[in-house]
Amino acid sequence: MTPCRVLSQCSLFKLNLVKLKLTIIGLGYLGATTAVAFAKLGHEVIGIDPDTSKIELLKQGKLPFYEPGLDSALVEVVEAGNISFSTEHTSTSSSADIHMICVGTPQGPDGSSADTKYLYSALDSLIPFLDEDAVIVGKSTVPVGTAAQIRNYLEAKLSFTPHIAWNPEFLREGTALKDTLEPDRIVIGVDDSWSEKLLRLLYKDITDTGVPFISCDIPTSELVKVAANSFLATKISFINAIAEVAEVAGADTVKLAEAIGYDERIGNKFLRNGIGFGGGCLPKDIRAFMARANELGVGHSVAFLNEVEAINLRRRARVLEIAQEELGDLSNRRVAILGAAFKPETDDIRDSPAIAVAEQFWMAGAHVVVHDPKALNNVRRAFPQIETQPTLELAVSNADLVVVATEWNEYREAKPAELAKLVANRLVIDGRNTLDASLWQQASWQIIALGRNLERIPVLV
Ligand SMILES: NC(=O)c1ccc[n+]([C@@H]2O[C@H](COP(=O)([O-])OP(=O)(O)OC[C@H]3O[C@@H](n4cnc5c(N)ncnc54)[C@H](O)[C@@H]3O)[C@@H](O)[C@H]2O)c1
Repeated sequence: MTPCRVLSQCSLFKLNLVKLKLTIIGLGYLGATTAVAFAKLGHEVIGIDPDTSKIELLKQGKLPFYEPGLDSALVEVVEAGNISFSTEHTSTSSSADIHMICVGTPQGPDGSSADTKYLYSALDSLIPFLDEDAVIVGKSTVPVGTAAQIRNYLEAKLSFTPHIAWNPEFLREGTALKDTLEPDRIVIGVDDSWSEKLLRLLYKDITDTGVPFISCDIPTSELVKVAANSFLATKISFINAIAEVAEVAGADTVKLAEAIGYDERIGNKFLRNGIGFGGGCLPKDIRAFMARANELGVGHSVAFLNEVEAINLRRRARVLEIAQEELGDLSNRRVAILGAAFKPETDDIRDSPAIAVAEQFWMAGAHVVVHDPKALNNVRRAFPQIETQPTLELAVSNADLVVVATEWNEYREAKPAELAKLVANRLVIDGRNTLDASLWQQASWQIIALGRNLERIPVLV
C-alpha cells in the first residue's frame, strides 16, 4: 500500500487501509525502535538524527546500541526499502503525514528539571518542512505543559496553527521492539480530530489486535508517563525500604516480597530488592516531575519522591558499607563488579546503579574490575579510569570480593565452584538477589545478599 499524502481525499484512507509517511526525529533507544517498528508495520519511515556516525550505521542496517531482536528487524526493513535515514530533513520530509519527536529530554544543568533544548532544536529544523496537514507528535517524555509551550513557540513562527499531539512511550529497553509492537496500551493526547484520526490510523494494525487505545487531552498524556515512572520507582524503593528494615531485623525480603506479591492488589513485579533503579528514564523523570510540580506550586504533592530517590541512593551505598564491614580498608583490594548496564539485556549505562557502585569502590581506593556482557564499550568511553575485562573469569581472577550489580543470566548461570578456583577470597555480594545462594554456599563462598538473612538458608551438602 503506498502512502497517500492528500489523506482526506484518499479513498483508501476512508477505508482505514492507507499506510502513512512519517519522519522519526531522534534515533536513540526510543526513536530507532519506534522507526523500525513503524516500518515493520508497513509505514514509510524517514529517520532523522544529527549524529553522523549513528546515521551511517543505521543506513548499513547496523544498530548503534544493543537491543535484542531490533538488529534483525532493522535489516529486514532496510532491505524492504520502507525506511531511510538522514542527518537532516530534505524535501521528502515535507510530504510526511506525521513528524514524531523522539529526541532526548535529559536532566538539565540545575540537576532536576528536564532539559527540553533538543525538542526546540528539532522543531527549528522541522519548521521549513511543516505544512498545515502534518501532525507533530511528541513521544519524548516531557514536563506537563510542554506541548502548550511548543504550540506557542510554533505559532509565533508559522503562518498557520500546527497540529500537535502527544503519544507517550512505555517501551522498556531489553524488550523494546516487542513492547512497541505489542504494547500494554497506547495513549494519545490530542485536541483536534485530525490528529486523532491520523494516530488511530498509524496504530490500526496494533489496536486491531485488541490493545487498549486511550485518547485524552494533551496535559493528561504528558502526565501519564511521569506518573507511571514515579509509581514504578516508588514500588522499587518501597521494597528497598523494607529491605533496610529486614537487614537489621534479621528478616528475608525475598521471601517477604513473594508473600506480599500474591496479593493481586500488590502484584509481584518490580518487587525485587537490590541496588535500586537507574537508566535513562526513571531517575531523571522523577526529578523532573518534582521540579515541574514545584513550578506549578504543588511540590508538596510529590515530595515523597525525594524519599524514593534517597532510598534508591542508599541501597547503592549499602554495598560499599557491607564490603567495608567484611574487609575493612578497601585500598588496593581487588573488587570484581559483575554488570555495568542499568539492567540486563541492554548496553545502557545511563545513571546505572552498577556504575555508581563501581565508582564508590574506586573512590574508596579499591582496584575495580568491571565486566558486562554488552555494555563494556560504553563503560570504556564514559569511565576510562575503570579497568574492564571481556570475560567473567578474567574479571574475577584474584578478586578479594565479587559484586553482582546487574542480573544478567550469565551471572545467574555461572558455576560458583569454578569461579572459586580463580578468586583470592570467596566473598560475593549479590546486589540483585539473582544468585542461587545455596549453590554458592555449597561451593564454600560467603554470600551476602541485600535485604536477606542468608544464615537461615540451609546449606545442602
Ligand atoms: N530509552 C527508553 O527506554 C525510553 C522509553 C520511553 C521514553 N523515553 C524517552 O524518550 C526520549 C529519548 O530517549 P532515548 O533513550 O531514546 O534517548 P537517546 O539519548 O538514546 O536518544 C536521543 C537522540 O536524539 C538525537 N537528537 C538530539 N537532538 C536532535 C535533533 N535536534 N534532531 C534530531 N535528533 C536529535 C540524539 O542524537 C540521540 O540520538 C526521552 O525523553 C526519554 O525519556 C525513553
